[in-house]
Amino acid sequence: MKPVRKAVLPVAGLGTRILPGTKVTPKELLNVLDRPILSYIVAEGRAAGIEHFVFVTGRAKGAIEDYFDHQIELEAQLEAKGKHDILKQLRDELPRPGEMSFVRQMAPLGLGHAVWCARDIIGDEPFAVMLPDMVMSAKVPAMGQAMAAYNQTGGNIVVVEPCPEGQAHQYGIVALDGQDGRLNRMTGMVEKPPKGTEPSNLFISGRYILQPEIFDLLAEQGKGAGGEIQLTDSMLSLLKTQDFHALEYDGVTYDCGDKIGLLRANVAMALEHPELGAAARAAVTALLG
Ligand code: UTP
Repeated sequence: MKPVRKAVLPVAGLGTRILPGTKVTPKELLNVLDRPILSYIVAEGRAAGIEHFVFVTGRAKGAIEDYFDHQIELEAQLEAKGKHDILKQLRDELPRPGEMSFVRQMAPLGLGHAVWCARDIIGDEPFAVMLPDMVMSAKVPAMGQAMAAYNQTGGNIVVVEPCPEGQAHQYGIVALDGQDGRLNRMTGMVEKPPKGTEPSNLFISGRYILQPEIFDLLAEQGKGAGGEIQLTDSMLSLLKTQDFHALEYDGVTYDCGDKIGLLRANVAMALEHPELGAAARAAVTALLG
């Protein structure tokens, strides 16, 4: 079984749900507490053993590449002012040489198309997809839990999470071949199932491990929901010939592509923060009166 070494992070979407905030700042660089959303995702990938991050970028996303590079003047000033802690923090986050690649999706044709744009860099090996607007808070990072599941089952893994009561019709939902524990064989997926027809209450929460055969299917994939080339449509085709397992991971997902999700992530990360937690709780409590 080939190991999962690379992750695709599609960051070429328009982020229309958080406009005007995303007009000049890429959604993935919006802050959650004291760092960009992407910083959490890359840290999660590294903790799971990902060795190479492939960013699928688009127009107006150049700041993402800059974020993962030296900022020479800033570093010199921090050095001169003796701000060594924050300087170390900045430098620790930088990639090792060659650890990141950037490939351009020239038009936002959909998540499936974005993943397909990474095909040459991924090559013929299994790979992770990490949706960079989904911040996942977990004791063992979500991607690490997915890797452990992959080591048990091989094939393809889709990380899922129970959705709030009565809201399954708003999510991508998985169908399972029985439910026994957290790791179950998948039989299908459905985007936003009409109320009452949901095959489970587990939504696809933004971390996947996929086999490289998905690329041939994506190459031929026509437009699906929303007129976009959808990753789920090609995954459904792959499901006909390969195993898929859904992993109900142990943690909580914050959809930072949505205003309230971004707010929830900020509040949650502040409350969890070892130094700021108490002050954050006092501030939130005061606001709530
Ligand atoms: P979303 O649909 O959540 O992101 O796609 P979006 O299109 O940026 O958001 P809205 O709906 O307009 O607010 C999930 C992920 O896939 C990426 C997005 O950047 C996001 O991280 N994506 C989506 C691409 O890279 N390319 C695409 O063509 C579509």
